[in-house]
Amino acid sequence: MATTTTTTLLLLLLSSGVISGELTDIKRTHIRFFFHNSIHRLVTTPANPILQPVPMQTNSKLFGSIAVLDDPLTEGPDRTSKLVGRAQGVSVFSSRSAAEPATLMNVNLIFTGGKHNGSTLVVLGRNAIHSEIRELPVIAGTGKFRLARGYAKVTTHSHNLTAGRAVVEYNVHVFHH
Ligand SMILES: *[C@@H]1O[C@H](CO)[C@@H](O)[C@H](O)[C@H]1NC(C)=O
Ligand SMILES: *[C@@H]1O[C@H](CO)[C@@H](O)[C@H](O)[C@H]1NC(C)=O
Repeated sequence: MATTTTTTLLLLLLSSGVISGELTDIKRTHIRFFFHNSIHRLVTTPANPILQPVPMQTNSKLFGSIAVLDDPLTEGPDRTSKLVGRAQGVSVFSSRSAAEPATLMNVNLIFTGGKHNGSTLVVLGRNAIHSEIRELPVIAGTGKFRLARGYAKVTTHSHNLTAGRAVVEYNVHVFHH
């Protein structure tokens, strides 16, 4: 009975356009920015669970390590270019292969400047860090990116393994309301 009532209500709302208007109003947005990743200071390993520097050269031994990220996002590749947000989250080294290191990334992109200020996107997926172009799923968002779905094409712009830093270009394509 309750289901029938709900269905009837839904049909009424649909026919009145209350819901259909929102459901069909889907936008597509492309966002390009540079992620200034500094993993050096933030890595823990199973053998050494205390926060400590781990040089990136040893990344074949990083399986199981967790990096907690809070990194700036800028408009251009230069660290001093306009700040558009921060990437906060975790990156877990989840590949045993030294030849193809990969992480599971779960990162919130928090826009704090530019036209997306106040909105966020959630990236969750596998990042094969040595591949030239990686594709990461974008699974959700808030603010203007509510109900977002999409993907990010990710490519390393430059890196310094000694310093444990990388500048990574993100091209994010999302559908949202
Ligand atoms: C972003 O939005 C916040 C909250 O509305 C505001 O305080 C801040 O000045 C904005 N920042 C920029 C760079 O526009
Ligand atoms: C890489 O980082 C190290 C340590 O911070 C620094 O000494 C070196 O000059 C950097 N290399 C390049 C090419 O920038």
